[in-house]
Amino acid sequence: MILITGGTGFIGSHTALLLLENGYEIVIVDNFVNSSREVLKRLERLIGASIPFVELDLRDEEALEQLFMTYNIDSVIHFAGLKAVGESVEKPLYYYENNIGSTLVLCKVMEKFGVMKLVFSSSATVYGAPELVPIVENTPLHSTNPYGRTKLMVEEILKDLYISNPNWSIALLRYFNPIGAHESGEIGENPNGTPNNLMPYITQVAIGKRKELYIFGNDYPTMDGTGVRDYIHVTDLAYGHVKALEKLNKSTGIDAYNLGTGKGYSVLEVVKTFEHVTGVSIPYKFVKRRPGDIAECYADPSKANKELKWEAKKTLEDMCQDSWRWQKKNPEGFC
Ligand code: NAD
Ligand code: UD1
Repeated sequence: MILITGGTGFIGSHTALLLLENGYEIVIVDNFVNSSREVLKRLERLIGASIPFVELDLRDEEALEQLFMTYNIDSVIHFAGLKAVGESVEKPLYYYENNIGSTLVLCKVMEKFGVMKLVFSSSATVYGAPELVPIVENTPLHSTNPYGRTKLMVEEILKDLYISNPNWSIALLRYFNPIGAHESGEIGENPNGTPNNLMPYITQVAIGKRKELYIFGNDYPTMDGTGVRDYIHVTDLAYGHVKALEKLNKSTGIDAYNLGTGKGYSVLEVVKTFEHVTGVSIPYKFVKRRPGDIAECYADPSKANKELKWEAKKTLEDMCQDSWRWQKKNPEGFC
């Protein structure tokens, strides 16, 4: 059975669904700090069965041990964590305590129960401002904010863990920019308050919740001056976890993998594509650069293509279509 931490969140819920559809047994844990109980109901409706779930904070060691005693867990996908960059600058201790503290407790309990297969949600943020794109996994790592540092530190902790015991089998999945939603429109990204990220902001403009999009900078050295990112459909990303688990089941070790499409799109390209596939126009205004942003960030995903036998298949059009379907069906998110 696979334990999915943070399984009611955006990426966790899509991965849980895909695993269930592929016949895996799972148990989800979450404390709902950034998700809703409604997600579980939706997942159960989509899959037509009840899903084992335990509400707990991962830092609660006793509760986690109880969970490992109750369920026959053989591997873990660890999504649980806080992810807002700006908030992490304001509340660094909260981020270090939650993201690192919960991983320490999780690994301790895993070790105690002899469970040594772990997929960790890392991020392209560990590359900081890379000198070269496309980004390969052995690019020097660097982080520019507390959120990024939690990812970097956890990667280091997991490397030390493997050195201490080579029976561990760990995949560090470095996600690029996940967007899109399940094609049913039943689950998707549900940001609290004003979205920080581009796609949820665009869909909220499209639905009339926000007046216009502010594009952060049009003076970057890119094709049209706006920032370039590697957007990846969340279901492609979810599939990367299934493939990573398959690899962990075959060999021990610790490896990092870029999960991206390998193609970068500018903010303006995303806006134009969204308008084209949905027929909804997105008013926008250029404003100054967002502090900490970089010009270009896109993956070289060839290591994951080769070693995990995984590749992203969905197009930017699919991503826009599915993000929009989710937003239209759920104007108020999961509420
Ligand atoms: P999300 O916030 O939607 O999901 C995270 C889930 O973890 C939430 O349901 C939250 O309630 C839960 N959680 C947080 N702390 C917890 C704790 N101590 N105990 C139990 N549950 C806890 O985020 P997401 O977009 O699904 O991201 C999943 C993971 O991927 C995160 O670790 C995030 O940092 C990482 N990541 C996300 C992105 C992205 O753009 N979404 C990019 C790179 C990496
Ligand atoms: C964000 C996170 C980063 C994380 C990544 C993947 C921040 C500062 N960084 O980065 O840590 O790893 O997501 O999830 O939050 N943009 C606008 N207007 C907006 C929103 C965004 O112009 O309202 C632009 C940005 O300047 C950027 C692009 O759109 O060029 C994508 O932004 P965003 O979705 O926030 O992702 P990242 O900047 O890659």
